[in-house]
Amino acid sequence: MEANNRRSFLKAGSLLGASLLAAPLVNKASGKEIILDIKPEKTKERILGTGKHSLKVNYGLGLGCMGMSWHRTFIPDRKPMIALIQKAYDMGVNFFDTAEAYGPWRNEELVGEAIRPFRKKIILCSKFGFNIQDGKLAGFNSKPAHIREVVEQSLKRLKTDYIDLLYQHRVDPTVPIEDVAGTVKDLIKQGKVLNFGLSEADPANIRKAHAVQQITALQTEYSLISRDPEGEILNTCEVLGIGFVPYSPIARALLTGYINPLTKYVADNDNRDTLPRYTPDAVKANWPLMEAIADFGNQRGLTAAQVSLSWLLAQKPWIVPIPGTTKQAHLQENLWSANYDFTKDELKTFTEKIAGIKITGARS
Ligand SMILES: NC(=O)c1ccc[n+]([C@@H]2O[C@H](COP(=O)([O-])OP(=O)(O)OC[C@H]3O[C@@H](n4cnc5c(N)ncnc54)[C@H](OP(=O)(O)O)[C@@H]3O)[C@@H](O)[C@H]2O)c1
Repeated sequence: MEANNRRSFLKAGSLLGASLLAAPLVNKASGKEIILDIKPEKTKERILGTGKHSLKVNYGLGLGCMGMSWHRTFIPDRKPMIALIQKAYDMGVNFFDTAEAYGPWRNEELVGEAIRPFRKKIILCSKFGFNIQDGKLAGFNSKPAHIREVVEQSLKRLKTDYIDLLYQHRVDPTVPIEDVAGTVKDLIKQGKVLNFGLSEADPANIRKAHAVQQITALQTEYSLISRDPEGEILNTCEVLGIGFVPYSPIARALLTGYINPLTKYVADNDNRDTLPRYTPDAVKANWPLMEAIADFGNQRGLTAAQVSLSWLLAQKPWIVPIPGTTKQAHLQENLWSANYDFTKDELKTFTEKIAGIKITGARS
C-alpha cells in the first residue's frame, strides 16, 4: 500500500471505526469491566430441527465458546471466561457451542466447568471428527470406535452424562456417512447424546445421514461475506426440516470494523493468519462491504456486528447464529441483534447492495 493511500485509508478507517466500535466500559479505579445490564426486549425463541429432534433456542442466538480458548490470538484468563458463560446464561442464552478440537480439549473443560450450575437447563453442543496427536489436530477421524471413545472423553470434560447436540465436525471421506449416523443413532439410544448434527457437509451427505438418523442442525460458515450456503445447502435443510447454525457469523470479527490492515494475529493461536480474507490487502479491498454495513447501521442505531447478525436472522426463521466473544459488552451487543427486524424492503435493498460488492480473498 502506498504511504498516501495507506494514510487516507487509515483515516477513513478510524472515522468509520469510531462509529463501529462499541468498546467495553472499564472502571478506571478497579480496572473492572462495567456492564450495562440491558437484556434484549424479548427472547424470540427459534426452533432448530423438527419434531422429537428439535431444540428451542432463546433469542435465536447461541454463544460460540471456541475463542475463549483457541484460534483468536490471545487466550484470556479462565475466570473471566467462566464468568462470561455464566453471564450469558443469566441473560437468557441457552445454546452453547464447543468441540473436542477447540484447544484441543481445553475449551470443553472450560465450558464444562462454567455450565455446571445450570447444566440441565441449557443446550450443550459439541463435536467429534479429528485425530489429535501431540496436542494438535492430525486429520479427520470419524471411525465408529473413535466417535464412541471421543464422546466418552467429552462427557468427562463437560462434566455431564449427555450432550444435547453432537455434530460431526467435518465429513471424513474414509468413513461412509451412514456409519457415522448409525454410530450417533446408537449413542442416542444409550442416552449419551440427544440430537445429531453435521458441520460443513454437502447436500448428498446431509441426505444420506438424515436417512439413518434425523439431523437437528447443520453448522456451516455463513455471514455477509461468506454466502456459500445460500441455494442448495439452505434448500436441502428447508426441505428436510433441518435447522441451520451459521458459525463465524461476523466473519471472525471482520464484519465488526475491529480488523484493519494493521491488525496482527498471534500465528500459533489464530487461524485468521492462514485465511486469505484476513491479509492486509484483502481487508483493504473488502472495505466497501464494511462501509455498506456501517451505513445501514448508522441510520438505525445499530453497530456493524448487530447489522451482520440481524441480517442472518432475517434470512430464515430456522437460522441460529453462534457469535463468539470474550467480552461481556460484545455478548450484550450481539444478543441485542435479536431485537432488530429487517423489513422486507430493507432486506431486499441491503442484500442487493451487498451482492454488488466484489469480495477479495477466498474463505479458506
Ligand atoms: N463448525 C466449525 O467448523 C466451526 C468453525 C469455527 C467456529 N465455530 C464455532 O462458531 C463460533 C463463532 O465463530 P468465530 O469465533 O470463528 O467467529 P465470529 O463469531 O464471527 O467472530 C468472533 C470474533 O469477533 C469478535 N467479536 C464478537 N462480537 C463482537 C462485537 N460485538 N464487536 C466487535 N468484535 C466482536 C470476537 O472478539 P472479542 O472476543 O473481542 O469479542 C472474536 O474475535 C465459535 O466460537 C465456534 O463455537 C465452528
